[in-house]
Amino acid sequence: MRQGFKFAAVVAALSLIPLMALAQQIQLVHTITGMPLDLSLSPEEGRDTPAVKEFMKTGHNPYNGVESCMHEAEEVFLTACSGCHGHIGEGKLGPGLNDDYWTYPKNQTDKGLFETIYGGARSMMGPQASARTMDEILLVIAWVRHLYKGDVEGAVWLTDEQKANFVPFDPEHHKPEAEELVCEIPAQTAAVGADSAEKKTETPSEN
Ligand code: HEC
Repeated sequence: MRQGFKFAAVVAALSLIPLMALAQQIQLVHTITGMPLDLSLSPEEGRDTPAVKEFMKTGHNPYNGVESCMHEAEEVFLTACSGCHGHIGEGKLGPGLNDDYWTYPKNQTDKGLFETIYGGARSMMGPQASARTMDEILLVIAWVRHLYKGDVEGAVWLTDEQKANFVPFDPEHHKPEAEELVCEIPAQTAAVGADSAEKKTETPSEN
């Protein structure tokens, strides 16, 4: 009897392993307190776009460097961030976001930057958790990365290939792609997070 029970328990435990692997997600924590972030505060739309799914698995922001998304990315920044951080992230009430100095060094990683934006930091840097969708936060991260004008060596978020092609942001020649372009992450990147075959593309947003 006992033996049988043990066996059943072991089988049950083993059968959970693949399930756990499937649900493997990065753990997001608050920048100041280190407490886990409550992702249920996030607006439901924009929680499971291909970009968010990939980010939650890898901690990498697939919107970084995707030209067709830059227009939308800039829109989010101008709506939600530039009032305090300056229209090209040069710093105002809040610190500059376009150089290689970070108050919180973890903001060099996409995961760290997401945590700071979602959960907030000190004083005026309030949480964006419920104000922005997770997808918009990834877009705005891509824009903050795009604004970067520091040393390429400090740009740890870039792949080696992206580093080789890195051009510092130049406000004089800055022209985000036209609105008509549909913001899509490259297929091979999207595939990493795509477990539902029917959801291939993202619905283009209204604005
Ligand atoms: C109401 C003003 C305000 C708004 C709006 C705001 N911030 Fe901030 N932000 C601040 C202040 C002030 C700080 C400094 C807080 C600290 O040091 O803890 C800050 C800090 C930061 C940092 C940390 C920088 C570092 O050096 O480590 C990041 C990243 C950041 N903000 C990104 C954003 C983004 C992206 C948005 C838009 C989604 C945004 N902020 C909106 C005021 C603001």
